[in-house]
Amino acid sequence: MVTGIRILVAAAGLAAAIALAQQGAPGTQSTGSPSTQSPQKTTPAQAAQRGPRGAEGARAFLGLGVAPDAEAAKRGAPIFASNCAFCHGPTARGAEGPSLLTSDAVLADDHGEKLVPFLHQGRPSKGMPAFAQLEDSQLKDVTEFLHLQVENYANRGSYQVANILVGDPAKGKTYFDSQCTSCHSVSGDLAHVGTTFKPLDLQRRWISPERNSPSRAVMASVTTSAGVVSGVLTKLDDFQVSITDTSGHRLDFQRIPPVQVQLKDPLAFHMTMIPTLKDDDIHNVTAYLEKQK
Ligand code: HEC
Ligand code: HEC
Repeated sequence: MVTGIRILVAAAGLAAAIALAQQGAPGTQSTGSPSTQSPQKTTPAQAAQRGPRGAEGARAFLGLGVAPDAEAAKRGAPIFASNCAFCHGPTARGAEGPSLLTSDAVLADDHGEKLVPFLHQGRPSKGMPAFAQLEDSQLKDVTEFLHLQVENYANRGSYQVANILVGDPAKGKTYFDSQCTSCHSVSGDLAHVGTTFKPLDLQRRWISPERNSPSRAVMASVTTSAGVVSGVLTKLDDFQVSITDTSGHRLDFQRIPPVQVQLKDPLAFHMTMIPTLKDDDIHNVTAYLEKQK
């Protein structure tokens, strides 16, 4: 009996918290004309008066963290779409890159204070490019977009994948001829690429090829006082580097002088190209490659 009462009390508290959270959340206010507004609608003055026990308090109670800044998230959406979506998915649920909705790095961040420095550096050796050329303010907007996705996901918000075949194939060809033909050709290695891959997959792959074969692995040469050894990079941080040599042996090195590490990434061009792509380039090149049947 006692537990039953506790549960009831807890449930009542939760309902109250949800009601509070809904009042405080943007977009849940009445959409009718001013005269038909719901009597529950809170004025800004009332909201301010509620203080820490208002909407933010209810959000904390529900484990939702700090509310995302909706305006910043709106500015961040196109930046995410053109820089991040092909790896992390259009709503950050993951594709080739991991889902960011369950990422500790995202969940531990409130308003970009941790994520912005991370995004500037990336983890290039693991396939996460550095976005050094994006402004702090742009990256902050992206993090607000991410926080909004976490929130929408928690609320099972709906989303749509836009039609991606909206580009101009002729402009795509111009871009391809100037940027890609030093390594590829549509009559050679990329012949029939439009048949091999469906549009969404094609777009993701031409921007960021999967590291799905040994020839695409990041290679490392480690110089020590004993000489140079090379192999596939398996781990790299500030303190240690690990490689697997040609006979399959794993070698670990502490990164202390005179040890030096040189990386060779066959996909380096793709990694550094990503932050420079404009929306139009993405659409046009995808439209061009899709025609290679
Ligand atoms: C080329 C593909 C690619 C692009 C483009 C990309 N990412 Fe990533 N991202 C990855 C991969 C792969 C990882 C996992 C790295 C690892 O294993 O450490 C990652 C990791 C992350 C993480 C850390 C996740 C965690 O929990 O450790 C965050 C946050 C993130 N990316 C955000 C972004 C944002 C924001 C953008 C756009 C500005 C972006 N990424 C663009 C591939 C990409
Ligand atoms: C400096 C060389 C270089 C340039 C320039 C380059 N790529 Fe690549 N690309 C690669 C390498 C290396 C691979 C991996 C090829 C392999 O494993 O056979 C690759 C793979 C690909 C793939 C195959 C993806 C997959 O998953 O199978 C596509 C498509 C592609 N690139 C498109 C492009 C386009 C489009 C451009 C120009 C915007 C471009 N590349 C520019 C080096 C380059």
